[in-house]
Amino acid sequence: MPLSVQLKTPVTGEYTQPTGLWINNEWVEGVDKKTFEVINPATEEVLCSVSEATEKDVDIAVAAARKAFNGAWRTTTPHQRGKYMTKLADILEQNIDLLAAVESLDNGKSISMARGDVHAVIGCIRYYGGWADKIEGKTIDVDHESFHYTRPEPIGVCGQIIPWNFPLLMLSWKIGPALATGNTVVLKSAEQTPLSALVFANFVKEAGFPPGVLNIISGFGRVAGAAISAHMDVDKVAFTGSTPVGRAIMKAAASSNLKKVTLELGGKSPNIVFDDADIEQAISWVNFGIYFNHGQCCCAGSRVYVQEGIYDKFIAAFKKRAEQNSVGDPFDENTFQGPQVSKLQYDRIMGYIEAGKKEGATIETGGERHGDKGYFIKPTIFTNVTADMKIMREEIFGPVVAVAKFKTEEEVIHLGNDSSYGLAAAVHTKNINTALRVSNELRAGTVWVNCYNLINFQVAFGGYKESGIGRELGEAALANYTQNKSVSIRLGGALF
Ligand code: NAI
Ligand code: MG
Repeated sequence: MPLSVQLKTPVTGEYTQPTGLWINNEWVEGVDKKTFEVINPATEEVLCSVSEATEKDVDIAVAAARKAFNGAWRTTTPHQRGKYMTKLADILEQNIDLLAAVESLDNGKSISMARGDVHAVIGCIRYYGGWADKIEGKTIDVDHESFHYTRPEPIGVCGQIIPWNFPLLMLSWKIGPALATGNTVVLKSAEQTPLSALVFANFVKEAGFPPGVLNIISGFGRVAGAAISAHMDVDKVAFTGSTPVGRAIMKAAASSNLKKVTLELGGKSPNIVFDDADIEQAISWVNFGIYFNHGQCCCAGSRVYVQEGIYDKFIAAFKKRAEQNSVGDPFDENTFQGPQVSKLQYDRIMGYIEAGKKEGATIETGGERHGDKGYFIKPTIFTNVTADMKIMREEIFGPVVAVAKFKTEEEVIHLGNDSSYGLAAAVHTKNINTALRVSNELRAGTVWVNCYNLINFQVAFGGYKESGIGRELGEAALANYTQNKSVSIRLGGALF
């Protein structure tokens, strides 16, 4: 198979799309020369085929990452690591349109949102580049006869498995803290969206990274993903995706070499609107909270609780707002919502819509396909959703929101926490005391007040309960990619 193909986007015209595996700073075919097809979800057409990594390719990539970890990367100074990362950010900055267009093509997200993603990717890599020479230990005063210090050391070879909803953004959240702290990486993209990570890989060598430091492969979860999580020479695995796969990865880590595990999993986040909220603002954020990225967000505000005093007014205005979201061609600059990422996801979401109808919830708007080509679903609002209904309990991961009415603060805290997930939550109110009380009570890794989805690379993000283990972004992520070494030195003579 050739290691690249010519593809076209309305933004870039023709461009060269790499299709191989990026191992040791080179494009290679898989050992078994397997490939798989990449689909454009807006048209259901095949874009190209890319190399599929098998266990054998994972072995080769891990060996390359190990060699770099023990060799060139170990002797690279922290300052130089940071320079490579900021150089990479500079190169990405010169290629925003290309990266965004490839993301839209393969994932279906609107081009304006894809550009937003790429800006966040650049910010994230530059931010962690800045951390590279600020990873510091402590000295600890124990007594006069000894001297103790700590060193945060890299963990080693990190396997990173990412999903398809934010292909480039998830890549940056993963590699940023890993590389800044001196680890090496084998990253597997999601099989639904391999293209942007391959375009990204093309810039790794140009930025100056030594061979083997950052390896990027395409492949399936049950083959390459499973091989990474069970690998005896991978020291850490970081994963974003579904809760069942998160469990499988943890089991694989436990039954192989007890590699360190961080997980960023699903969510069913409550978005709470009190009577005294600025209703126009709240509707805007509730709309953005659920429909951003077509509902394919781990932190989507998919359970909306509205206080009884404004309930009817809120529903009428929210319905109007949802119906105004422009759904369609991802390459139209005005599009807000593109197609779901795949036929499988489309079918899953339509299944949830059927379940909601069967269980007796009311469809206020949507509930059906948009258009006749591509995996588009109309923004959907269910009301009269009770706490036991499937659409209130399970992650739908589509443009479908479940709305319920509440009376008191105490009741809504209970409802908000009535979930096995705990990734995010939001509170809309003009009363600062309500905002702080409810934020403190909600069992979630992120709480937004009078906003939603305001994620920034400087601010930690991650889950309570079954939404995950560990934190990404901010200073907090560094802890997941370093391990503490304590060195104790005896200054006095013999003790015994
Ligand atoms: P998934 O969890 O199967 O896929 C995510 C990543 O894990 C992909 O790279 C995949 O190749 C890999 N993977 C799959 N099985 C694996 C295994 N056994 N070992 C190692 N890696 C494996 O998610 P999927 O099927 O694409 O989506 C299903 C549901 O998962 C969605 O409807 C949504 O509810 C949730 N999800 C949550 C995401 C989040 O951001 N937290 C992202 C994507 C999906
Ligand atoms: Mg695709």
